[in-house]
Amino acid sequence: MSIKRKNPEDLRSHRWYGVHDLRSFGHRSRTAQMGYASEEYAGKPVIAILNTWSEINPCHTHFKQRVEEVKRGIWQAGGFPIELPVQTLSEPFQKPTTMLYRNFLAMEVEETLRSYPADGVVLMGGCDKTTPALLMGAISMDIPAIFVPAGPMLRGDWNGQTLGSGSDTWKYWADLRAGKITEDDWKGVEGGIARSPGHCMTMGTASTMTSAAEALGFTLPGFASIPAPDSRHAQMAARTGLRIVEMVWEDLKPSDIVTARSVDNAVTTCLALAGSTNAIVHMIALARRAGVELTLERYDELARRTPVLANIRPAGEYLMEDFYYAGGLRAMLKELGNLLDGTQRTVNGNTLAENIADARIFDDAVIRRRASPLMPDTGLAVLRGNLAPDGAVIKPGAADPKLHVHTGRAVVFRDYSDMAARIDSDALDVDENCVIVLQHAGPIGAPGMPEWGQLPIPQKLLKKGVRDMVRISDARMSGTSYGACVLHVAPESFIGGPLALVKDGDLIELDVPGRKLNVLISDDELARRKAAWVRPEPRFARGYGAMHQIHVMQADKGCDFDFLQREGAGGSRPADEPEIH
Ligand code: FES
Repeated sequence: MSIKRKNPEDLRSHRWYGVHDLRSFGHRSRTAQMGYASEEYAGKPVIAILNTWSEINPCHTHFKQRVEEVKRGIWQAGGFPIELPVQTLSEPFQKPTTMLYRNFLAMEVEETLRSYPADGVVLMGGCDKTTPALLMGAISMDIPAIFVPAGPMLRGDWNGQTLGSGSDTWKYWADLRAGKITEDDWKGVEGGIARSPGHCMTMGTASTMTSAAEALGFTLPGFASIPAPDSRHAQMAARTGLRIVEMVWEDLKPSDIVTARSVDNAVTTCLALAGSTNAIVHMIALARRAGVELTLERYDELARRTPVLANIRPAGEYLMEDFYYAGGLRAMLKELGNLLDGTQRTVNGNTLAENIADARIFDDAVIRRRASPLMPDTGLAVLRGNLAPDGAVIKPGAADPKLHVHTGRAVVFRDYSDMAARIDSDALDVDENCVIVLQHAGPIGAPGMPEWGQLPIPQKLLKKGVRDMVRISDARMSGTSYGACVLHVAPESFIGGPLALVKDGDLIELDVPGRKLNVLISDDELARRKAAWVRPEPRFARGYGAMHQIHVMQADKGCDFDFLQREGAGGSRPADEPEIH
């Protein structure tokens, strides 16, 4: 394909630096104030590097170094790098949940790029919500954009055992509560579970979304699988800097990369990885930013035809470090073959098929062949019924198979505090056949739809050896979690969704093969309860939270703000870029 190249006068930054007026005098004189001679930037693409590094984000500690490698590449390619800090969204520390702030970062990305002289952007993220937020903002801004994934951390290690982020936290916490390990053991796990820079190395949201970003076409091929401390990660960072400058001259933008087909490729990738359920919400949101309507039904269709090939915890056995040594994402994508559309363009200018042509699987215990998948088609199921008219999701592969079809008595908690106060009480009327229900944990009610969906199993049942039960909420669940947890129930209970109407003792029917989720009471009784339902007081009276509760959409629409989605996905197109004076 012949590529029409831009001239320096076509650069967006030309309006800041290249014209002869009073404003541009200010831009040039202030750039000189920062120590740059005019020949260092004149006529060159200005590359914004949006860095989510901070001293409270353990997954991004190496970004202080990586950003220097990105800059090195940009300088070498004849660009002018400008590092801009953006919100850090640190999964372990930010409360009540980073999800509340995903859209905040997405807006910050878009408006930072719009308001400064950026011709192209390098997005640096990896810790859970940073990846979708950075991509959402860049897609909306639609200038050349490339992603630097943080890379997974090394395997955890304790007493000769391999530890996986999140998954082993829940496992050993349950063991501690059941009296199977000591406090000293628990301290040992604490010290060994996160022992290098990088994001969680299980198939949590971070590994899922960075892999999705690569399959969508936003990273250099192979980048998402490289462990953070590996020197090849640093080399890829420099290559990313080199490439973004070319992308600016070629005017290769997110709108050239995000199509309904490339979105299907990314979703198929998430499914073949047995990826985090959080990716559903993020993929829907970022697709809608590009005007692509990704529905839960499409997700379910793709789930039914996609085998799970990645044998990674929590669904499988290994960790991301093993996945990299086994051939990495490129090898898995090649094995997916005709389930992907290889014609889709990616940031290096090649198609997906070209990028994976020479990939090989080196260990097919870690990356399974299609002929012997980890699971044939059970990566994810979308449920509907009178309890979830707009959908709910479950990861059947992470649940005890005997719970896939189950009817049980509801034990209802009206919010997280209620659950925390009563779940371990000996007086709680619960047995292993019950269905635990948590209300008010959704996008508006919690607020921010936290990862509370792996509801705890009551202690008295844990002590009896019970390790899984059907649990239902409008919350999300960490990708490193497991269990028969029905999530993302929409509409959420806080706004009067049917989950708000469930009472202790109601029978709830889960039927994963039939894709059903129902409360077994009559329509009349449901209507009576709805008429008596009283809407709770809003969570916020002012500030970002107040804006969030007014504008956030439900989980089936990706929890984006209603005014940020693009035409074609049911929303209005954002105003054109304003004139710059
Ligand atoms: Fe950052 Fe898990 S805490 S990815």
